[in-house]
Amino acid sequence: MSNPANRRWPWPRVIAHRGGGKFAPENTLAALRKGHELGFRGVEFDVMLAADAVPVLIHDETLERTTSGRGHVAATPAAVLATLDAGSWFDARYRDETVPLFAEAARLCVSLGLWANIEIKPAAGQEMATGRIAATMAAQLWAQAPPALMPLLSSFSETALAAARSAAPQLPRGLLLDAVPNDWHARMTKLDCVSLHCNQATLDERTAQDIMEAGYGLATWTVNDPDAARRLFAWGVDAVFTDRLDLIRPDFR
Ligand code: G3P
Ligand code: MG
Repeated sequence: MSNPANRRWPWPRVIAHRGGGKFAPENTLAALRKGHELGFRGVEFDVMLAADAVPVLIHDETLERTTSGRGHVAATPAAVLATLDAGSWFDARYRDETVPLFAEAARLCVSLGLWANIEIKPAAGQEMATGRIAATMAAQLWAQAPPALMPLLSSFSETALAAARSAAPQLPRGLLLDAVPNDWHARMTKLDCVSLHCNQATLDERTAQDIMEAGYGLATWTVNDPDAARRLFAWGVDAVFTDRLDLIRPDFR
C-alpha cells in the first residue's frame, strides 16, 4: 500500500515488476490489469521509442524474445508494433496482447488507480529523445490524475534522466544503478533525483542506511524471495519490485 507518511517514498512499498510479474506477459496491458487484479497498487514498466519516436512498452531492444516480430524496436514503427503478438510467448491465452503504446498504458493505469514507475529504457543512441519524450508525455497524460498517482520516472541512463528533468522538471526522478557506486551521492545530486533503485543482490545494509539517511528513497529489484524482502524491509528499504505477486503481497511485512 502507498505510504504518504514516508516522505522519502510516498508510493507503494511492493511494486509489480513489468506490470504483472510472472503472472502475465511483461509490459502488456494485460500485465497491468493482472497486477491490479492481484491487489497491487503500484506497477513498474519499461518505455522505449519506436522508429517514429512513439513511446511503447517493451523491455528488450529487439523484438524476438517477447513478440512475434523480428528486429529492433527502434527500427519498427509503432503501427507495426501494434500488429505484433506480444502475449503468446508467455501463454496462448494472451495471443491478442500487443506492444502497448505508452499513452494506452498511462490511461489504463489512471483509470485503474494504479501508481506507475515509468522506467525510461532507451535503445542505444536514443537516450536524450527517449527521456524527453517519455517525460513530456507523462506530464500530459497524468495532468488530470490525482496527485497520489503522479508517476515516478526512472532510468539507468543519466542522459535520459537529464532530458526528462529539462522536459518535465516537476515529475520526480529515480536513478537506477545495478550496483551502487562510490559516487552515488554526486550522481543523485546532479540529476536532482529523489530515489535510488538498485539490484537487491548488490546492496549491503551500510550502503542502504547511507542512502536513506541522505534523504533518498531506496527501492530494490527484483525481489522474488520473501526472506530477501523481509531482510530488505528490516534494513528500512522503502520498496521492492517483484515478479512473485503471489509470495510478496502488497501488504507484505
Ligand atoms: O526498474 C527496475 C527494474 O525493472 C530494472 O531492471 O531489466 O527489469 O528493467 P529491468
Ligand atoms: Mg524495468
